[in-house]
Amino acid sequence: MNRTPVLRSLLLGLLVASPGVAREAKEYDADVHYEESDLPHYDLPPVLVAASGKRVVTAEEWHSVRRPEILSLFSHLVYGRVPEPARAIETEFEVVQTDPQFMEGRGTRKDVKIHFRNEQGEISMHVLVFVPNGVERPVPAFLKHSFNNTQSKDFDASATRPGRLRNGWPLGEMFERGYGFCAVYHQDLVGHNEVGFLKGIHRLFYPEGQSFPKAHEWGVLSACAWGAMRAMDYLGLDEDIDHKRVAIMGHSKMGKAALWTAAQDERIALAISAQSGCAGAALWRRKSGETLKKMVTRFPYWLCRNAWKFVEQEDDLPVDQHMLLACIAPRPVYVHSSVDDTWADSRGEYLSAFHASEVYELLGKKGLASEASPKVGEPIIQSDVGYHIREGGHSVELYDWRRFMDFADYHFKR
Ligand code: GCU
Repeated sequence: MNRTPVLRSLLLGLLVASPGVAREAKEYDADVHYEESDLPHYDLPPVLVAASGKRVVTAEEWHSVRRPEILSLFSHLVYGRVPEPARAIETEFEVVQTDPQFMEGRGTRKDVKIHFRNEQGEISMHVLVFVPNGVERPVPAFLKHSFNNTQSKDFDASATRPGRLRNGWPLGEMFERGYGFCAVYHQDLVGHNEVGFLKGIHRLFYPEGQSFPKAHEWGVLSACAWGAMRAMDYLGLDEDIDHKRVAIMGHSKMGKAALWTAAQDERIALAISAQSGCAGAALWRRKSGETLKKMVTRFPYWLCRNAWKFVEQEDDLPVDQHMLLACIAPRPVYVHSSVDDTWADSRGEYLSAFHASEVYELLGKKGLASEASPKVGEPIIQSDVGYHIREGGHSVELYDWRRFMDFADYHFKR
C-alpha cells in the first residue's frame, strides 16, 4: 500500500500521544494565531450552492443533492470513508451484566458488549447504559463518546460525591431530569493515536493484500464514529432507551467524533460538541489556534490521508466545518466553547454554528441570528442551533452539563 513513507516517518517522530498534551502548544508554537487581527482573509465555501453551481432553494434539494454531496466530500477528503468490508462481518449484542440498584438504587446499569467477527478477526466494543429507576421507560438519553474507559472504575458511582460518577459526571442529575446515559470508549476499536491500523477494527475490513487505509479511507475519528453508530444499532433494540431521543455528546477529540457521527447518522436526534475545535466545530480557514498542519503533525491519522493535502492549503478545501454542522440539520446542534480554550478557537466554533444556521433556516428551523458571539453567561438554548461560552479552560464542568440538559429539555420535552 502507498503509505507515503517519508512523510509518515517524519510525522511519527512528532507524535504526542495523550489527549490534552498539545494544549500546551501555545507556549511552544510561536506561529499560532490567536488575535482576530492576525487572522487571514477567507471566504467560506457556500453551503447552499451545489457542485453543479445551482443554488439550493428547497428542503428537497438540500436532502437529495447538497447534503449527500457535502457528506461525500467530508468522507473522502477529511475524515475518511468506511469501506465495504471484504468479508461480511457478523455482529452480536451481549448484555454482559445488569445492576438494577446502581447509585443506591437510583438507576440501572447495563454493561453491553458488541462483538464483531469475520474470518479476518474478532473485536468487541462496550456500551454502558444507565437508566433512571422509578420512571416510565423508555427514556431519552445522552450517548457520550468517552475518553474514559467504559470498563474501568471511572464509571462506578462516586463514593464521596453523591449523584456523581467517579469521573465526576453528574449522572444523578441526569436521572432526576429523566435522562438515561450511555457511553462508548474511544479506544475500543482503534488506538488514540493509531498509526498501524493492523490490530483494531480496520483489519476486519481489508481485502486481500491491503494492510493500511487508502488515502480516502477511515482514520481514527471515522472509526470512533462508526463505533457510535453500532452503539445506536444496539440502542435501537434496548427497550429502556427511547432511540428517537438520543443526544450524542463528546468533548474535544470526542466532540469532533460526535459531530461527524451525527452528521452521518440521522437516527441521532441531537448533537452536542464540547470544545471540539479543529476538525470539530471550528472553521479550518481561520487557522486560529490548532490548525490542520498542527493536528496532522501530532495526530497524523485522526483524519484520512487525503486531508494532509490541504495542509496550509485550507482555502482549497471544498468544505469548511460549518458544512459539517449543517449536515446535522434539521436536528438540533449545540456548540460549547470556553474563553481560555484558544487552541480550540472559540470564535471559529461560534462562526461555524452561525454559518450552518442558513441551512437550519432553509429547513424551517431556528438558527443563530447574530454573527457576534454571545457573552459569557448568555447561553443560547431556545434555538435549533444552540451555543454557550463560559469562563475557564478545556474541560466539561457541571455548568456545561446543565446547559446540555437544558438544550435537550427544550427539544425533547416540549
Ligand atoms: C489535543 C488536540 C486537540 C484535541 C485535544 C483533546 O489538544 O490537539 O485537537 O481536541 O487534544 O482531545 O483533548
